[in-house]
Amino acid sequence: MVSVYLTLSKYFLNQKTGMTNNGKSESNQMKIGIEAMAFEVPDHYLDITDLAKARGVDPAKYTSGLGQKQMGVASPCEDTVVLAAGAGQRLLANFDIDPQSISLLIVGTETGIDHSKPVSSYVHQILGLSSQCRVFEVKHACYGAMAGLTTAVNYILSGRAKGRKALVIASDIARYGKNTLGEPTQGAGAVAMLVSDNPRLLEIDHQNEGFFASQVMDFWRPLYSKEAFADGHFSIQCYLDALSGAYNLYKAGVCEGNGAPSQPVGNGSFSGRFEACLYHVPFVKMAQKAHQRLLETDEGQSFEKDSPQAKAAQQDFEKRVAPALELNARVGNIYTGALFLSLAYLLENSADKLAGKPISLFSYGSGCGAEFMGAKVVEGADRLMKAVSYKDILAKRKPVSIERYEEILDACSKMDLNGEENICDPAKWDIKRPVVYLGTQNHKRVYSVNGVVLN
Ligand code: HMG
Repeated sequence: MVSVYLTLSKYFLNQKTGMTNNGKSESNQMKIGIEAMAFEVPDHYLDITDLAKARGVDPAKYTSGLGQKQMGVASPCEDTVVLAAGAGQRLLANFDIDPQSISLLIVGTETGIDHSKPVSSYVHQILGLSSQCRVFEVKHACYGAMAGLTTAVNYILSGRAKGRKALVIASDIARYGKNTLGEPTQGAGAVAMLVSDNPRLLEIDHQNEGFFASQVMDFWRPLYSKEAFADGHFSIQCYLDALSGAYNLYKAGVCEGNGAPSQPVGNGSFSGRFEACLYHVPFVKMAQKAHQRLLETDEGQSFEKDSPQAKAAQQDFEKRVAPALELNARVGNIYTGALFLSLAYLLENSADKLAGKPISLFSYGSGCGAEFMGAKVVEGADRLMKAVSYKDILAKRKPVSIERYEEILDACSKMDLNGEENICDPAKWDIKRPVVYLGTQNHKRVYSVNGVVLN
C-alpha cells in the first residue's frame, strides 16, 4: 500500500514538473534542431585580389593575411528583404516544406530598412506564410540570428508549437565603404534555417548554454550611415574575450549538471569533444584566432607566437575549423549569417564523416553579445544539403570590375531615397532574380516577385 502511494505521488509530482519516471524531464529528452537550411548570395561578386590592387595593397594581405578570396556585392535591387526571401524560398522548395506549417518567423539583421517596419513582414508576405504566425525582426549586430535560433529552439521546447515549425533567417549587407580598413571584409547574403522537433540536419544541445555580454564600442552603424564604423583591432579583442566568457559558461554548465557527460573526451581538453568547431567569421583568419583562443581557454594560458602550443593550435585549426570556411572566403562577411554559412558548407561537405558527432557553434555580435552552443550532426544531412549544392549557387554569380563595384556602392547610398526608383532598375544592374527591390515611392518600399509588384 505504501509503495502504491509512493508510486502514485511520484507520478503526480512528475505530472506537475514534466518529469518522467527516470527523473529526466520529457522536454529535456526532446530532439530539437535544424530540419532544413538554405542560403542566398547576391548575383555579383568582386575578386579580393582586384580590390587589393586597386587600393595599392599587397594582395597577400587580403588572401593569406585575412583569408579571403572574393566578396559578394549586393546591387541596389538586392536589399535585406530580397536576400532573406531568396534564402527562404530556396529552403521551402529544396526541402518541400509547407509554408502553412510555420508559426514563427524571425529575421535577424543589422541592415535595417525602416525604423518601425521589420524586414520579416515583407519576407512573411513573399514566402506566403500563414497569418497565424508570430513574425518579428531581431537586431544585435551579428548575434541577431543566433538570438533568433535560441528563441526558436525554446519555442519548440515549450510544447506550444504543437508540431508547427519556426523559420529563422539571417540576412545582411556588410559595408564599410571605399578605402576603409574594413573594405576587404565586406560581403552580403542570407541563411534560412527551419527549426523543429524533426531535426534532419542538426540536433541542438538545448540542455546547456553559454552566453556573454558587455557594452563595448568595437563596431557600430549609426542611424545616419549605411556604412559601419569599426575599431577593428579592438573588435578582435572584444570577440576573443566574449568567446572565452561564453565558452566557460557552457563548459561549467555541462560539467556541473543535468546529466550531460562531464568527462573530457577527444584530445583530453573539454573542447576536444567537438569534432568540428564553427565560429562567427567576419573574415577567415578570425576563425583561426578564435580557435587558438578556445584552446588557450582550455589550457588557462595564452600561447606564445611560434610556440609548440601555437603550432599545435594551427594544426588543430586545419583539422577541425578550416574545412567549414570555403563559403565564408568566397562570400565575405554576411554579419548575422556568417556562422551559419560555415554550418551550411560543413553539412554539405563533411556531414558524412561527422554523422552523430558533436560540433560547436560560436556567435559574436559587436556591441557586444555572444553565445556558444553545442550540437550534433544528423546522419544523412550531407545528402539533403547536396540537393542544391553551394557550387551551383556560386556558379550563377557574375564577377564585377572594381569600377562597377564602386558604381554599385555609390548607387546604394541613394537606393532608399524617396522617388529615386530609377537607381533600382534591375536591368541596369543585370539582376535576374525573381524577387527584387524597386526603390521607394510615396515613402513606401516597392518589391516585385516574378514581375508582379506587391501591394
Ligand atoms: P588592418 O589593420 O588593415 O590589417 O585591419 P592588419 O594590419 O591587422 O593585417 C591583417 C592580417 O594580415 C595580419 O595577420 C597581418 O599580419 C597580415 P595577423 O597578424 O592578424 O595574423 N598581413 C599580411 N599577410 C601576408 N602578406 C602581407 C600582409 N600584410 C599584413 N603583405 C581588420 C584588419 C580586420 C581589423 C580590418 O579589416 C577591420 O577593421 N575589419 C572590420 C572589423 C572586423 O571584422 N572585426 C572582427 C571582429 S568583430 C566581429 O566579428 C563583428 C562584426 O562581424 C560586426 C558585427 O558583429 O555586426 C565585424
